Amino acid sequence: MKPVSELDLAKLLTREHHKIHLVGVAGSGMSGLAALLLELGHEVSGSDKASTVETDRLQQLGLRFHQNHRADDASAADLVVFSSAIKIDNPILMSAYDSGKPAVRRAEALAAIMQGKRGIIIAGMHGKTTTSAMTAHVLREAGLRPSHYVGAEIPILGSNAHWDPRGEYFVAEGDESDGTLRCFRPEHVLILNIEEEHLDFYVDLAAIEKVFAQLIEQTTGTVFFNADDANTARLCAQRKSAVSYGFSENAHYRGTDIDLRDFVSVFCVYFRGKRLGEAVLNVPGRHNVHNAVGVIALANELGIPFEKIAASLRKFEHARRRFEIKYASDRFLLVDDYAHHPTEIRTTLKTARSTRRKRVLTMFQPHRFSRTKALCHKFGGAFDDADRVVVTDIYAANEEPIPGISGETIAAEIARHGHRGVSYQPRFEWVHRDVGNMLDSGDLVLSMGAGNIHEQLSILAADLVIAEKLKAIVGEEGHVQLYEPLSKHTTLRVGGPAQFWVEPCNENAFAELIRFCRRESLPLFVIGRGSNLLVRDGGILGVVVHPCGRDFDKIEVDGNEITAGVGAKLKEVAYAGKAAGIGGLEWMEGIPGAVGGGLRMNAGAMGSQTFENLVRVRYLDSEGNPHTKSRHELDVHYRNFPLLENNFAVSAVFRGQSAPADEIVRRLQASQKKRRTSQPIAKSAGCIFKNPQNCSAGKLIEELGLKNCGVGKARVSEVHGNFIVNDGGATAAEMLELIEKIKSMARTQRGIELETEVQIVGEPA
Ligand code: EPU
Repeated sequence: MKPVSELDLAKLLTREHHKIHLVGVAGSGMSGLAALLLELGHEVSGSDKASTVETDRLQQLGLRFHQNHRADDASAADLVVFSSAIKIDNPILMSAYDSGKPAVRRAEALAAIMQGKRGIIIAGMHGKTTTSAMTAHVLREAGLRPSHYVGAEIPILGSNAHWDPRGEYFVAEGDESDGTLRCFRPEHVLILNIEEEHLDFYVDLAAIEKVFAQLIEQTTGTVFFNADDANTARLCAQRKSAVSYGFSENAHYRGTDIDLRDFVSVFCVYFRGKRLGEAVLNVPGRHNVHNAVGVIALANELGIPFEKIAASLRKFEHARRRFEIKYASDRFLLVDDYAHHPTEIRTTLKTARSTRRKRVLTMFQPHRFSRTKALCHKFGGAFDDADRVVVTDIYAANEEPIPGISGETIAAEIARHGHRGVSYQPRFEWVHRDVGNMLDSGDLVLSMGAGNIHEQLSILAADLVIAEKLKAIVGEEGHVQLYEPLSKHTTLRVGGPAQFWVEPCNENAFAELIRFCRRESLPLFVIGRGSNLLVRDGGILGVVVHPCGRDFDKIEVDGNEITAGVGAKLKEVAYAGKAAGIGGLEWMEGIPGAVGGGLRMNAGAMGSQTFENLVRVRYLDSEGNPHTKSRHELDVHYRNFPLLENNFAVSAVFRGQSAPADEIVRRLQASQKKRRTSQPIAKSAGCIFKNPQNCSAGKLIEELGLKNCGVGKARVSEVHGNFIVNDGGATAAEMLELIEKIKSMARTQRGIELETEVQIVGEPA
């Protein structure tokens, strides 16, 4: 094959059939090119370090895909096409150069393909994908059978690129990021806006404008341009064959009377002062009305009647990742958008705001270290329309990190600008949790960025579907919260989040939850007051039920019997006894837990334990069916009640004996005194270990010299050796390390195997 300079690339690509290899074929631009080349009848192979949904789809159409870049895989190719993300030392590229095989850039190949058609390039910093998709759609609806090439998946067009041999036109999104706009010699061009961007490639705005000026120069037909963008207007206005569009009065094609309704916009269009008619655009945002006026100008100049254009716009559907609705219900709206430049972020947030949801919660993933550094200050002021912003770390997009630049740089800049709802989450996989936990009915959640932040929104959307079903089960009175931090619900103040935190307030709802979890294979865990619980830092997967309110907090006295729901505090049972002159329950005053936990653990204090006072227990089995069992039917041990390992208590009846008021008060005071003098007031989970036979764990730990011994913020209490206290901000990992240390000492020095009394649950971080 001849060297590139002597090749007739247009002929080679559109009128002959060859073996062509694409280096970096998974990229959004490259995959479109692969689709075009396949439709043109070439034998196409491609390599990339990663396979994607797109490469899978292309393989079905005939692409020979190679994971990773090996020179051998492209040795049979007549031509190599490479993406601008590919480095000069790529083995396929190096081998092509060494052997004199022609290798061209993506834009060169695309420009050559377009030479076979009447080319229309849509260019500018923001809105290219939507506008080029809209243009191709309008031309297609008008029966012009256009070919197209757009930088994202376009459901309404069927694919991101398509070659139609029957049509005259080719509509393409022109990428300005690497200077290759210079390659195109279109018949028409539509310029949306020009501003500072891609400063990793361009020195400054002047350098960007130079490339646009050349594109304009090389355009043979009409230049359609945004009259409202100063930079664009300055470059285009003087050109002889130029048509302007926009909202301002001096625009040739002008949009007016814009009415933004939730997801649809209605507006009027004038051409040189004459009313063309009304249009309805089926995508949200004022900026999209602006883009649509540009498309109307272009389509009208191509001879498509206004009514036809308007009818097409009414049917238009957004490109993927362009204000794409991921989930919508009466209560929530989840939207994903590609915005990654400060101007785009501001525009997308304005659109989000215009949907009039209660709050706009945003997850933002900065894209490229170079852009973050160059536009850092502009990012600071771009989030005013968001109520809350969670910023992740930077999506590198093949760039090397720049020291001192991270997601935190942007979060700090947003805060410096005066925003009070911004936070930084360096663990990408936790972003959906941060935002999900803030969620309240009426909120809109927006993910923004050009990397993979939409994955976090998808996880949130999937969990929200389940959360909504759980909410329907517990009803208005009940409560459902996503990713609720369990450090808020354990007395130790430690623990990661509950995937689904659910508060049913009656037995029916609880039973229905059990059945739902069984059907959906969701794990179900019940938490009372969390007083005997150590939750690991990764939290609990599945549904965490916290029975509380109405039925569950109820305490009723009948003679010497007290019926209490599992959510009631044991302490309250002791005081209900006092009020009714029932003694023998005073020891419950010293237990920080609820009735449910007391039953589950057969909790005890002052020489007594729960089951000594128990008459009967009502519980739900693993299928949600209710049962009641009397004390004599139950198998109970020290700090263990096996029945509740797979069943769920809902209420219990306790019995005491009538006793004189002063005697009850005396016993309550004794319990209080015991607690005050022998137990720490700091945050703890009660006793950590069960008492080994014939010995006190607290005493043993003291004798081992471990009091005050700590790991991080977890420390053995100096008051009682069997309590580990949280000095503030301790992690479960620190707690567990300390527990292991104590166990190991007891084993090696005393030959005693300590068993934890505290329940340890959940996933590691
Ligand atoms: N002791 C020490 N050093 C210590 C702690 C205790 O020498 O650091 C001695 C005490 O002086 C006492 C003996 O060890 O002679 C037993 O201590 P304590 O009376 O405090 O009782 P315990 O067995 O450690 C049990 C329950 C507690 C309950 C108290 C009070 C267990 C595992 N713990 O503690 O329950 O509050 O009795 O009645 O059975 C809980 O289960 O979470 C809990 C706090």
